[in-house]
Amino acid sequence: MLVDNHNRAINYVRLAVTDRCNLRCFYCMPEEGINYVKRSELLSYEEMERLIRLFVSQGITKVRITGGEPFLRKGMFDFLTRLSNIDGLKDIHITTNGTLTAGKVSQLKSIGIKSINLSLDSLDKARFFEITRRDEFKTVMNTLDELIYHDIPTKINCVVMDGKNIDDIIPMVELTRYKNISVRFIEEMPFNGTGDHPATLFWTSAKTIEYIQSSYSDMYKIEDPAYSTSFNYQIPNFAGTVGFIAAYSRLFCGSCNRIRVTPQGVMKTCLYDNGIFNIKDIMRNGATDQQVIDSLKTALSHRAKDGFEAEKNRGISNQVSESMATIGG
Ligand code: GTP
Ligand code: 5AD
Ligand code: SF4
Repeated sequence: MLVDNHNRAINYVRLAVTDRCNLRCFYCMPEEGINYVKRSELLSYEEMERLIRLFVSQGITKVRITGGEPFLRKGMFDFLTRLSNIDGLKDIHITTNGTLTAGKVSQLKSIGIKSINLSLDSLDKARFFEITRRDEFKTVMNTLDELIYHDIPTKINCVVMDGKNIDDIIPMVELTRYKNISVRFIEEMPFNGTGDHPATLFWTSAKTIEYIQSSYSDMYKIEDPAYSTSFNYQIPNFAGTVGFIAAYSRLFCGSCNRIRVTPQGVMKTCLYDNGIFNIKDIMRNGATDQQVIDSLKTALSHRAKDGFEAEKNRGISNQVSESMATIGG
């Protein structure tokens, strides 16, 4: 079992398979996009599989595939199948924007994908376009319908944005009336690829909870799964649940069980850090399996205690401004 210097068990790795995306969500990247990493600098599937096998040998049991948009990477379904054959890897999950999965959800089901987190910030076609700068609303909704049809546990990730999708909050809650899904409202973080963001956050999770409770005074707290990023609630007789991810306020760092590998192979022990070392370079320089494992253990032995410390360690000249797509969320 991997344990960090704050005695937190690490059993979850978030692997970003690409920094490319076919949407342009403004909270993630500017309209013109970002400078994508050269293809040769991306981890290859072989390198990713080797890494995951090594992590699993050290007690990692859960992998979440992220991006960019993971399904833009050619050969994703074959890669998922290979991962599903790794002994000891119990859970494979994916975070996707749902634009490339309509018509393919049954394949995900047969590979044994445990759950899907679907990015969807509006239930209104025009607002969806305004936020993502692409006309893909219908396709994403088709993916959602298929996920429900195939009974794949689904969470909707909805970033709450002042002046953009506040009118979506109540319809999003209503989505849980008949659908057994979790809608999670996320605090907007400064990872938008521009460096430009307000100094304070208006729509904190606490504010969003208060806003919803003014319409649903009977919304009540339910038990959170272990290591949950979200505080979870339910409304009496609703099929699904509602969650709040205080990603900016960083209220869940104390139980953080996750590490990250970016598309270019940078190991991050916190979303807010500046990258600890490049594990791809170590592998390409001929490291043995034990050397790769040792590099990971060293990184975990001086891990920041929370996202505030990790951010502070970046220093003044390295302020958070990168796109979420280059980190993998
Ligand atoms: P589960 O495996 O379902 O717990 O998913 P998750 O919430 O970890 O994953 P997902 O990719 O759906 O992330 C949802 C939101 O939470 C995204 O905005 C993430 O960037 C944010 N998030 C995930 N992990 C962390 C973290 O370690 N720190 C912070 N601050 N935010 C995180
Ligand atoms: N702030 C908060 N969440 C973000 N995501 C992407 N960029 C940001 C940001 N700046 C979320 C999306 C997606 C997940 C991978 O990350 O909702 O679901
Ligand atoms: Fe693409 Fe996800 Fe970023 Fe939106 S949040 S632009 S879907 S990587």
